[in-house]
Amino acid sequence: MITTDQTVRTFLDFFRDRGHRFTPGDSLVPPPGDPVLFTTSGMHPLTPYLRGRPHPLGRRLTNLQRCLRTTDLDEVGDDTHLTVFEMLGSWSLGDYDGSRSLRWGLELLRDGFGIDPGRMHVTVFGGDDEVGPDHESWDTWGELGLPVEPTTRENWWSGPTGLCGPDSEFFVWTGAGTPCGTPTTDDRWLEVWNHVMMRYVRHSDGSLEPLERPGVDTGLGLERLVRVLGHSDSVYGIDLFRPWVRTLPRLWDTLDERSVRVLSDHVRSSIVILGDGVVPSPTRRGHILRRLLRRTLTTLWRDDPTRTLSDLPVELIDHTLDHFGQSMRPDDVRTLLLNEERGFELLLRRGRKVLSRGRFGGSLTEDDYRYLHDTHGLPRELVTYLNGE
Ligand code: SER
Repeated sequence: MITTDQTVRTFLDFFRDRGHRFTPGDSLVPPPGDPVLFTTSGMHPLTPYLRGRPHPLGRRLTNLQRCLRTTDLDEVGDDTHLTVFEMLGSWSLGDYDGSRSLRWGLELLRDGFGIDPGRMHVTVFGGDDEVGPDHESWDTWGELGLPVEPTTRENWWSGPTGLCGPDSEFFVWTGAGTPCGTPTTDDRWLEVWNHVMMRYVRHSDGSLEPLERPGVDTGLGLERLVRVLGHSDSVYGIDLFRPWVRTLPRLWDTLDERSVRVLSDHVRSSIVILGDGVVPSPTRRGHILRRLLRRTLTTLWRDDPTRTLSDLPVELIDHTLDHFGQSMRPDDVRTLLLNEERGFELLLRRGRKVLSRGRFGGSLTEDDYRYLHDTHGLPRELVTYLNGE
C-alpha cells in the first residue's frame, strides 16, 4: 500500500519534472497582520504572488502545507474531515492556463497514482448571475472524457483575502461496486483535488476586478488521497494515523470508534498547534486550541474520569512533531497538555460546586448563563456539559 511519504514524493516529482520548484510550507500561524487565525490552504502563504508580486522561485511552484479549518470542527470523526490536515499544492503564477493544470491533474491521478478514470468524476463552474460558465475547463473535460457536473456556488472559490475564481474539482468514488450519481447527489464521491482558476479579486464593496495576470491554484487533500489509494474506509485508516488508532484503544479500553477518531484527531492536532508556538488561552488561536483540548478531555472522561493525558506515550508526541518537522521538545508539549488538563479539571470542580446550588437546579436563563460566565468564569458550553452529565 502506498504510504503518505511516497504519495508526497510522487506528487512533487511529477510537478518538478514539469518545471515546478518546491517552496517549503509555512507554520499553521500566518505572519503578523494576516486577518486569519490559522493557515487554511496551501495557497495562503502565496497570496501576494497570486496577486502579482514576482516570486523568487519563478512562476511554477509546489508545496506541502499544514492547514487548519475551524469550519470543519463539528464534522471531525466522520470518514473524511480532520482538524489539522495537509494539502499538496501546485501553482501557475500567471504562467500556464487552467486547461493545462486539469490535463496534468488527470495524468497524475491516472498514470502516477493508478486511479481508474472510471472511478473519477469532475465538477465545473456552470455560471451564475455575475460570471459566465467556465467554458475553458468544461471544454477540456469534454475532450478528456471524464463525467462532468456543473454547479454554481460549489465551484466558485473565494478565500479570506479577496482572491477568487471558478474552480474544477476531482472526485473519486469511495463506494463499493459501480459508481453512481454525481458529486452533489451521492457523498460516496470524495473530493480530493481542487483546481482554482484564480481570475479575480473581490473588493470590499462587492465588486469583482479581473486579475491582470490570472493564475492557477490547486490544492489536493493529502490524507484523503492516501485513503483513496489504500482503499481505506476513512482517513483514519492511513499510515499516519496507525500509531494513534492502535494505541488509544489499548490505553483507554472502552472507547467507541468515533471517540478513538475524535481523540486521535484532536490530540494530534493540538500537538501540531502547540508545536507551532500557540498556547491555550481564552481568545483567538489559543481559544481554538483550548476548545480542542476540552473536547478531548470531555470525550476521554465520559466513561472514566480517572483517565489522563499523562497516559499518552511520549512517542506519539514525538512521531507527530517529527512528521511536521517541528523542533519543540516532546516533553515540553506534554507539560503544556498536562497543565491544560489540570486547569480544566479545577474549572469543572468549581463549576460542579456552583451549579449544585439550588438556584441553578431547573432550566437556566440567559441571565444565569451571563452570571456563571462573568462571575465564575464558566463558559456556556461548559455549563451545558456539566448539566448534561
Ligand atoms: N485554494 C483552494 C482550496 O483551498 C486550492 O488550493 O481548496
